[in-house]
Amino acid sequence: MSAALKLVHPAEDQDARRWRAVERRDASADGEFWSCVKTTGVYCPPSCAGRPHRKNVFFVERRAEAQAAGFRPCKRCRPDEWIAGALADRIGEVDWSRIRDDINKHGWARLGRLLSDEECAGLIAAYEEDERYRSTVVMRRHGFGEGEYKYYNTEAPDIVADLRTTLYERLAPIANGWMRALGETKPFPAMHDAYRKHCARAGQKRLTPLILKYGPGDYNRLHQDLYGAEVFPLQVAILLSSPGKDFDGGEFVMTEQTPRRQSRAIVAPMKKGEAIAFAVNDRPVEGAKGVYRVKMRHGVSELRSGSRYCLGVIFHDAA
Ligand SMILES: [Fe+2]
Ligand SMILES: [Zn+2]
Repeated sequence: MSAALKLVHPAEDQDARRWRAVERRDASADGEFWSCVKTTGVYCPPSCAGRPHRKNVFFVERRAEAQAAGFRPCKRCRPDEWIAGALADRIGEVDWSRIRDDINKHGWARLGRLLSDEECAGLIAAYEEDERYRSTVVMRRHGFGEGEYKYYNTEAPDIVADLRTTLYERLAPIANGWMRALGETKPFPAMHDAYRKHCARAGQKRLTPLILKYGPGDYNRLHQDLYGAEVFPLQVAILLSSPGKDFDGGEFVMTEQTPRRQSRAIVAPMKKGEAIAFAVNDRPVEGAKGVYRVKMRHGVSELRSGSRYCLGVIFHDAA
């Protein structure tokens, strides 16, 4: 057989290209695929400084595939903290069945890292661009705490609108499970556009995504983000600053109040760029005598130093 007729299997060809990228530690190939290392049980992007043997490596296209095959994120290059690709893909890689279970069991869940350092910095820098906001709230004036926040208007950075529509689609089925458990019959629409129309018909038309800014001594009292009768029961917070580096203190706290019991406090650990989803108000809990309602509130403990920015994504609009 002449060399010109030699056929190369496309998958072999692709694997050979991928292996060359691994050998070169080619960061430009990061995000295209992941190496699973059978001997160590970890997965890495091509740029990892680790030196696996070819025979121990196979490739997958998504982190979720590596996780599903039982591989752990490499401790050296931390691919679980690694942010790239379109926001919808990052949100698609989140393990939503685990999150549904966590939310159903605890009323909240960590969604992992959704925003890169650059995206966090961009949102913080835009805090001073007044044209992007419909109003500024100085918390002391309303007895909400110390610190301030701003509600985005339609000039919000694209990423804020994208987070809101994409996360809604994932959270709506979980919210509908809660509604059924609480005996409410009307489900939330699958898409955020349709839900916003529903809010508008209820007289809630103003955008609710917001960015909060805390300095030394600032805090946010326990509260619920209710803006009218129409309530989507879950919301998302994304920390934009780095705990222990940009600020100290300022923990995200929640309380849950079970009928005839004292309140219980929960501290949610968050890193920069990381998101958590949590109950806005009531959540259903399965008891011996059926489902009952537990009321949740959230707030932020006092900042000892530095500055802390956080993005709040609330899915219902405001009256
Ligand atoms: Fe809030
Ligand atoms: Zn690695």
